[in-house]
Amino acid sequence: MTIQPSALPGFSASSELEELYHQLPADFLRTALAQETDRFDRYSIDACGLLLDYSRHLIDDYILEKLLSIATEADVSGAIEDQFTGAIINSTEQRAVLHSALRSLDNQEILVNGKDIKPDIYAAQEQMKNICQKIHSRAWSGYTGKPIRHVVNIGIGGSFLGLKVVTDALKPFRNGQITPHYVANIDPADITDELASLDPEETLFIIASKTFTTLETLSNANVARSWLLQKGLKESDLANHLIAVSCNISAAVAFGVAEENILPLWDWVGGRYSLWSSIGLIIALSIGYDNFEALLAGAGEMDEHFRSTPLNHNMPVIMALLGLWYRHWGGAQSHAVFSYDHGLRDLSNHLQQVDMESNGKSVQHNGKSVVSVTGPIIWGGAGTNDQHAYMQLLHQGTCTIPADFILPASSHTPVNDQHAWLFTNGLAQANALANGRSLEEVKAELEAAEKSAKDIEWLTPHKVVPGNRPSSILLCNSLTPKTLGAILALYEQKVFVQGVIWNINSFDQWGVELGKLLGKQLYPMIEGGDASKLDSSTRNIIERFRKVNA
Ligand code: F6P
Repeated sequence: MTIQPSALPGFSASSELEELYHQLPADFLRTALAQETDRFDRYSIDACGLLLDYSRHLIDDYILEKLLSIATEADVSGAIEDQFTGAIINSTEQRAVLHSALRSLDNQEILVNGKDIKPDIYAAQEQMKNICQKIHSRAWSGYTGKPIRHVVNIGIGGSFLGLKVVTDALKPFRNGQITPHYVANIDPADITDELASLDPEETLFIIASKTFTTLETLSNANVARSWLLQKGLKESDLANHLIAVSCNISAAVAFGVAEENILPLWDWVGGRYSLWSSIGLIIALSIGYDNFEALLAGAGEMDEHFRSTPLNHNMPVIMALLGLWYRHWGGAQSHAVFSYDHGLRDLSNHLQQVDMESNGKSVQHNGKSVVSVTGPIIWGGAGTNDQHAYMQLLHQGTCTIPADFILPASSHTPVNDQHAWLFTNGLAQANALANGRSLEEVKAELEAAEKSAKDIEWLTPHKVVPGNRPSSILLCNSLTPKTLGAILALYEQKVFVQGVIWNINSFDQWGVELGKLLGKQLYPMIEGGDASKLDSSTRNIIERFRKVNA
């Protein structure tokens, strides 16, 4: 593969931005934060229940203006309109990208192939609402009459990751009746662990698969179905315990799901954006349909902000441009997201799919190679655990890693002063990254500790923390269904803007498809088929597997 240059050619500000980046003084942030009393006012946006503080970034007004010129030249505003109005922006699959329609705050029609999709959305939402109402009121019970208490979502990728984040993060909003469970992996340990604690009489499985062809999901769904039958259910009892959500209704019926238990989905909802659709049923069952609606409303508000706010005050656009600043001119290979909220501990897993499956591309819309690097590696975790694991590398390592700190200002589960400490630690990390600890400060500290001159000399360089490392703070007063909806939509739209600027299709995933295909081709050989024509590396590994499992 040709290594792509990191700069972003093709935009009038590119070379100037390159120079600007390299002229940044090593103490830029420390000085800016200390001296610019209005820095927070200039570099923060308060919208949709979220406060984005981007004052700890290596920017000034001029740099920001130049970054914004890239968004203007790439016609990000036009692309936003194309997204919301149902243009075929997923070019390789010839699809509109309309997950935003699922959370739209108005009832204006949106046409796909000349047909308004809103009535179908409302009908599916009504079906979800009915299922929730029946299960919560116990009108829908298990086959022996016991209420449904456990819902197991069988799905992977977009049919799993976002759902898990939402039901974890909104645990304080759960209705107390339903405990959500997830089975995603084809590793038999996953479903075995999950089933071990479940009572079939009070368990409902949701087979969540847009395509209903996904190996892992179908395999696990088969295991779940057999488990129910082994536990004494008759085929006719399965309707109380199996629901499917899919575009592929006929495959779900063929699997044995009762037709009235199948919720629809459409090809204009990408897998990684599907938590807003009927795929979100486990969310609605866990936290109640009203709260699911609030989640949609929060995302809808963020969409409206994104669509109607000028680029220079537009949260997703600013976050996207800051990402480009470090990716292209700062040499950043990755972007970290640290959630100072236990419920959001898996957020970075979801964002990995949203970002890396979307923008892990090297071909432009027109089929030509990209002219620069594209999507970064996304990673992260939960504070303060992060501080005792990998934060050291951000503070003193040699990589540029811009970071987001997600900081809810209040806790749903206050215990003593723990939440105040959690919040303070997140803020302290952002400040430590920005300001570091200078040579003079280290020396003064060592002198105050009465270290010898020799010790001071050799210890000082180890203790200097360079600072000038950028981060954003994303603060919400409280993590609610609405604010969480806004956070998730914010990241989706940020990824969209970056894809527009890179001129790539953020909505397909052909590389993933190759992995699935090769898996299917190799499987017969693992099972004893003729492996002689395989390359020696693959053949030897297969032979070892067969030997172990003989
Ligand atoms: O991992 C690839 C992928 O195609 C994702 O885009 C998708 O979210 C996931 O598989 C699951 O697909 P499905 O919902 O069709 O089972």
